[in-house]
Amino acid sequence: MKLFFSFLSIVTITQFLWLQQNKPLKESIIRGNEIYNDFCIQCHLENGEGVAGIFPPLSNSDYLLNNVTESIYGIKYGMEGPITVNGELYDGIMVSQGLDNEEIADVMNYILNSWGNSYDDQLITQSIVNDIEK
Ligand code: HEC
Repeated sequence: MKLFFSFLSIVTITQFLWLQQNKPLKESIIRGNEIYNDFCIQCHLENGEGVAGIFPPLSNSDYLLNNVTESIYGIKYGMEGPITVNGELYDGIMVSQGLDNEEIADVMNYILNSWGNSYDDQLITQSIVNDIEK
């Protein structure tokens, strides 16, 4: 029992320290994870792997990591027409999920920092999303 509680406190302290580093980004990622599970997972799947030829992957996606602005635009307003993701052609339709700008920032921070993706600790803020207009 004692061991269990010391284990529990180590877990809590580790989580606390983790949150202290780049706190706004990490809190945004946690919120973004929930948004992802509610609005994106049905197509892009649990580990962002997508479905080859139908729903493009987000994990290790060269499109996402090289076209952050276009990706935000797509989540905000919808996306259709041909795109190439990791050498594979996709020509589908993603409708806007009706998220507000803060939710879009959170889900972007989640997908840019999950499944091995990295965006060098840069935070996508609500004002970045605000500035991307039709
Ligand atoms: C109904 C299925 C569906 C849902 C739900 C969906 N997407 Fe997509 N997504 C697509 C399709 C299809 C494309 C490719 C559109 C095209 O071919 O132009 C795409 C493209 C993308 C891309 C750019 C391509 C890439 O793989 O890097 C990103 C980023 C993206 N989606 C993120 C999201 C996020 C974040 C959510 C949740 C807020 C979401 N999508 C919800 C189907 C979906």
